[in-house]
Amino acid sequence: MEAIILAGGFGTRLRPLTYTKAKSLLPILNKPMIFHLIETLPDEVNKVVLAVNYRKDQIEKYFKENDCGKETIVNDEPKPLGTGGATKFAERHITGRFLVLNADVICSLNLSEMIKIHKKNNAMATISLWPVENVSEFGVVDVKEDGNIVGFVEKPKPEDAPSEFINAGAYCLEPEVLDYIETGRLISMEKEIFPKIIKDTGRFFGFKFTGHWMDIGRISSYLEVHRFLMREKNIQNFQGENNSINGFLKQSCIGNNVSIGKNSNVESSVVYDNAIIGENVNLSGCVIGENSKVSNFSNLKDTILGDNETLEEETSLDNKAVWTQPKPEGYPDKQIGNPIEK
Ligand code: GTP
Repeated sequence: MEAIILAGGFGTRLRPLTYTKAKSLLPILNKPMIFHLIETLPDEVNKVVLAVNYRKDQIEKYFKENDCGKETIVNDEPKPLGTGGATKFAERHITGRFLVLNADVICSLNLSEMIKIHKKNNAMATISLWPVENVSEFGVVDVKEDGNIVGFVEKPKPEDAPSEFINAGAYCLEPEVLDYIETGRLISMEKEIFPKIIKDTGRFFGFKFTGHWMDIGRISSYLEVHRFLMREKNIQNFQGENNSINGFLKQSCIGNNVSIGKNSNVESSVVYDNAIIGENVNLSGCVIGENSKVSNFSNLKDTILGDNETLEEETSLDNKAVWTQPKPEGYPDKQIGNPIEK
């Protein structure tokens, strides 16, 4: 069985981190987020089709150098095609029933169970469902007791929401679904394809699950997933190798070859490889990019420093994203595609 992993987005809401790195390779506890997802694939998935576009070379290189335990194919889209277009573009690698997964979701979904329910329902499509409180920010499903989905309502007012469940970004699909998707254009699976399948077949089901679900779309969720996983593992901090830590860490994740100077406090933050944090620095709710430097006596709160940036001494920043280098060519100014409403 094949799993298509959608990993071609620009990740605009995670800039400046995504100016230099593919979103799916952004580390979570020092491991690319896409690897966390691949670890949840059941044994019956033997082939992973990586639907890539932006920063595809990085992804290709990563999978060449790191064995994920499954056959991987890098399927490079000529241009961003959205969730539907990217799925269609992977058609030549599909041999039967298949999975489509967003690369940027960390969750406790049991895919094996979802496939079982899909078969039991004789479904054309089954999508994972997660309950939310803030329904008005999402596409909400109209789901019946038996799991049959009869429609989607985009960003409803709470009183008009047909349920509390949203599309959680994992699909089990029959190959016939591919016939619904046009070739070569930007298509949203959720907005264009799923409604047609509901209308034509009625065999569209949802799979609810419990535990956790985190969509790593924004910096806040990127930091939150670190805190969550550290809590789950019952650890205070997470660290890579060759670090020189002379300050204090609290609920933080530190990469490799990082140096943190005397009297510095790093709290609820993520520090990438080769970063240098000087002395008497305070970081709280920050992400510090690879090879970046925060000089002595600086105070940063809720601030993101891109890769290869240097801050001079006594810098004070609150809720800022720091990027002084040219933007990568072709990088959009705003979100495109937007497969899941967030
Ligand atoms: P934003 O720009 O911040 O919205 O991020 P994004 O580009 O990643 O979009 P979004 O979070 O909505 O995408 C959800 C998932 O679909 C991510 O894993 C993306 O990598 C992936 N994705 C989005 N658009 C495309 C696309 O055109 N092609 C492919 N192959 N994947 C995509």
